[in-house]
Amino acid sequence: MMSQDKRNVNKQTTGHVWDDDLEELTNPLPMWWVWGFYITCVFAIVYWLLYPAWPVASSYTKGLPAINTITYTATTVDGKEVQKTTHWNMRSKFMAEMNELKAAQKQWFDKVASTSYEAVASDADLMQFVNSAGKTLFTDNCMPCHQAGGQGKIGIAPNLTDDYWQYGGSYQQINTTIVAGRHGVMPAFKQVLSADELNQVVNYVLSLSGEPHNADKAKAGDSLFHGPKAGCYVCHGDDAKGKVELGSANLTDKIWLWADVAGAANEQEKVTLLTNLIYAGINRGVMPAWSARLNPEQIKLLTVYVHDSLGGGK
Ligand code: HEC
Ligand code: HEC
Repeated sequence: MMSQDKRNVNKQTTGHVWDDDLEELTNPLPMWWVWGFYITCVFAIVYWLLYPAWPVASSYTKGLPAINTITYTATTVDGKEVQKTTHWNMRSKFMAEMNELKAAQKQWFDKVASTSYEAVASDADLMQFVNSAGKTLFTDNCMPCHQAGGQGKIGIAPNLTDDYWQYGGSYQQINTTIVAGRHGVMPAFKQVLSADELNQVVNYVLSLSGEPHNADKAKAGDSLFHGPKAGCYVCHGDDAKGKVELGSANLTDKIWLWADVAGAANEQEKVTLLTNLIYAGINRGVMPAWSARLNPEQIKLLTVYVHDSLGGGK
């Protein structure tokens, strides 16, 4: 009873009562709320004037053009560049920003294109661009075969970070490799060599890089390698170090691309790997040509990236 009295005395109500004791107060709205409301109204009106807002028949109020239109360069289906002005939307904004980025990038690509390889390599700013743009290009195009860091994978594609180059490690040679592609082919020897001869050649190849081998067989293999029957020397050279014009492998280092001799567990496994390889020949190593897929500026940048950023260049 007491609390009811107090309420009736202290509070203004509209006089409506529901459920015997539910009353409606007539307190004024708090000031912060009232101001918040006015500000919202003003904001809404300004917004309607500046931005697209109200539907009108089949169109809408456009707002202030300076704020609401975006102009960007678009490429048409037939490859022409046109200036396009549209009302503001996320897609147009994205296109405009991409254009700006591309223009900024183009300046750098042009700089790399017009500078000699050696000068690019010794210019810290240009190399910073080469490192970042090269990494993206490499990841997009080369990584599937040469792996993320360019370290390659046996049986797939060679390591580009070491000092050994099948096709030559000068800027010009690397550029030619990327532009035109490479395809190393070694004939099969199954019809040329008997099983014994094959085994002798295999032992000779093992001896070349200090792998365990049978010395007598290797000696006979040496004669075959340098003789007319097998004729390995024709492609691999008298010193068995390979020829860059052919991309024939250097057989005297411990770097292997097709037969993982260095990684094989024991002599027997090494012999088997090499026997199978020489028996069947090699026709797997296809480095694609990029001249149709990348422009010359991108290829030049990748050349420097492979030569200097990956670090194996000569
Ligand atoms: C489809 C797999 C594949 C892709 C993609 C690929 N390569 Fe190759 N690349 C190879 C193979 C395989 C070889 C070795 C060819 C051979 O042994 O005849 C090679 C060889 C090379 C060589 C020569 C290495 C040497 O020792 O002389 C360079 C340089 C090279 N690639 C760079 C690149 C670059 C740069 C890209 C990206 C633009 C790229 N490759 C993309 C498979 C690929
Ligand atoms: C017509 C030229 C040619 C002749 C002849 C030739 N090779 Fe090769 N050989 C190549 C080429 C090219 C490659 C590299 C293939 C590639 O990388 O795609 C190669 C690769 C190899 C490899 C693989 C090396 C690795 O890194 O895995 C071995 C081993 C080899 N040759 C041994 C021989 C032996 C032994 C003979 C003789 C019985 C011989 N080759 C005859 C062209 C030749």
